[in-house]
Parts: sequence; structure tokens; C-alpha cells
Amino acid sequence: MELFEVIRARQSVRAYQSRGIEADQLNAILSAANQSPSAGNLQAYQIILIREQPLIRELVKATYNQDFIAQAPIVLVFCADTERSGAKYGEAGRRLFCVQDATIATAYAQLAATALGLATCWIGAFDEKKVVGLLGLRTGLRPVAILPVGWPAESPPRTPRRSVDELMSEVRRPTTESARG
Ligand SMILES: Cc1cc2nc3c(=O)[nH]c(=O)nc-3n(C[C@H](O)[C@H](O)[C@H](O)COP(=O)(O)O)c2cc1C
Repeated sequence: MELFEVIRARQSVRAYQSRGIEADQLNAILSAANQSPSAGNLQAYQIILIREQPLIRELVKATYNQDFIAQAPIVLVFCADTERSGAKYGEAGRRLFCVQDATIATAYAQLAATALGLATCWIGAFDEKKVVGLLGLRTGLRPVAILPVGWPAESPPRTPRRSVDELMSEVRRPTTESARG
């Protein structure tokens, strides 16, 4: 698929087939994430792979019981590495850059999965402390996005979007005329 087709094809899918995912498909998704840009090229994120069903079912509880996640053969948890970015950028790295790094990687992974015909849904509603505890994340790793990945078992209607005109605004320097009032 061409890039713009992939972007158009991606949508949140919340039902998956029982079919598993091949190792090369998983590798393609992770390699795409690995190509994403990051602050200072630090790649201040860690991707946690979960494919054991009992663990996925435990994870569901930490997502306020978004049960459909348990249908997915694999789940990726994208974590911001606050220490890695903080070591170079201090507060901005800990608070913002590592979160941006992790979210961009998540977006790349979503698009790569779509290009392979796979489906995902970005899960942002979860109890952070529970996820940290369940996955035994080391200090400094902060989960920011949970991504179930599987073969689609539904074709939901497209979600609407704001118009580009509404979400974009242009700022121009005031002309000398208008500046004078
Ligand atoms: C930051 C973020 C958090 C989200 N959290 C959830 C979530 O917890 N559960 C869920 O089912 N969908 C979640 N979504 C998916 C959105 O609902 C979805 O992207 C949006 O409705 C647009 O639909 P589309 O992805 O099909 O284009 C989240 C998306 C983002 C970007």
C-alpha cells in the first residue's frame, strides 16, 4: 500500500480473529517503530511485547476492562523512558520528549500494522500504576500507549474528522499598515 492509502486505511479496530501473527510481521512492525524520529535520536522508549494470554487478560483489568484487548494475539506496550531522555534534556526530556518519542513510535507501529493488513487500537485509558506493577517495569519506564495487534474481525464505520480548515490556522506577521491600526 502506498503511504497515503495506509494512512486512510488505519482505523481503530476492537475485534480480532483468533489467528496469530507471524514473526516477520511482528519484526516489520517493530522495525517501523524503530525508524521513528526521536529527540536527539535517543529513542527514549521501550516496547514491551506480551503474547501470553493469561498476562494479556491481566492487562485488560488495568485498562478498566476493555475486554476486546484479550482477543488480540499480541499486545505491545509503549513506554516512555524518562531516565534516558532526562539524562540529556533534564525536565523537558523526562516530562515531554520521552513521551513524544514513545507516542511517535506507537503511531509508526500502527501504520506498519495497517500496511500488513493487521488491525490495532490505541489504548490510552489504563491505570498506569497497575500496568507498571503487572509488567514489572523498571524505574523510569512510563507506559504511554497499549497497542493490541491482530487480524481484524470487524470493519467499523469511519470516524469523522474536523475539517483541515478548522484545525489549521495560519499566523502572519502583521503588516506595517495593520500594525499601525
Ligand atoms: C491517546 C489515545 C488514547 C486512546 N484511548 C483509547 C482507549 O482507551 N480505548 C479505545 O477503545 N480507543 C482508544 N483510542 C482510540 C480512539 O478512540 C480513536 O483513535 C478515535 O476515535 C478515532 O478513530 P480511528 O482510530 O478509528 O480513526 C485512543 C486513541 C488515542 C490517540
